[in-house]
Amino acid sequence: MSGLAASDAAMLAMVAREAADAAYAPYSGFHVGAVLLFADGAMVRAANVENASYGLSLCAEANAVAKAMNEGRRGGLVAVAIAGGKPDAEGQPVPGPEPVMPCGRCRQMLHELAALGGTDPEVIGVAEGGLTRLPLSALLPHAFGPANLA
Ligand code: THU
Repeated sequence: MSGLAASDAAMLAMVAREAADAAYAPYSGFHVGAVLLFADGAMVRAANVENASYGLSLCAEANAVAKAMNEGRRGGLVAVAIAGGKPDAEGQPVPGPEPVMPCGRCRQMLHELAALGGTDPEVIGVAEGGLTRLPLSALLPHAFGPANLA
């Protein structure tokens, strides 16, 4: 992974925090925003959407992948940033000591979109002390994907 410049990673982290404005999280009170960065410079952002049937809640990253794919994107995924926490007065999450990194299901969903374009995107998690930056392949090694079904 070559990785984004530090300033680009910081910008993406800020956009992820802003994306959490749209969170619908009345049950957990935990607002999460995610932003996907594509090779053409486009960004697709989303927030978590919960449900009174708690288990049906959708993560910000899953919503971002679904949104991007509904816009016709198939690959080109360069990076994803995630910010989560209890919201401040503006509805933006206040990051805790540990970064929010994608849950297992979301890692798999990110892998599908990334694999379609043959990229290994950088995953950027936001914590109060800074950013955790890792390639998706480190978070989901030996991933199952489209290639396995070819
Ligand atoms: N959540 C996300 O949106 N992304 C993650 O990576 C972890 C968890 C959401 C799901 C639920 O709405 C809330 O955070 C608490 O788990």
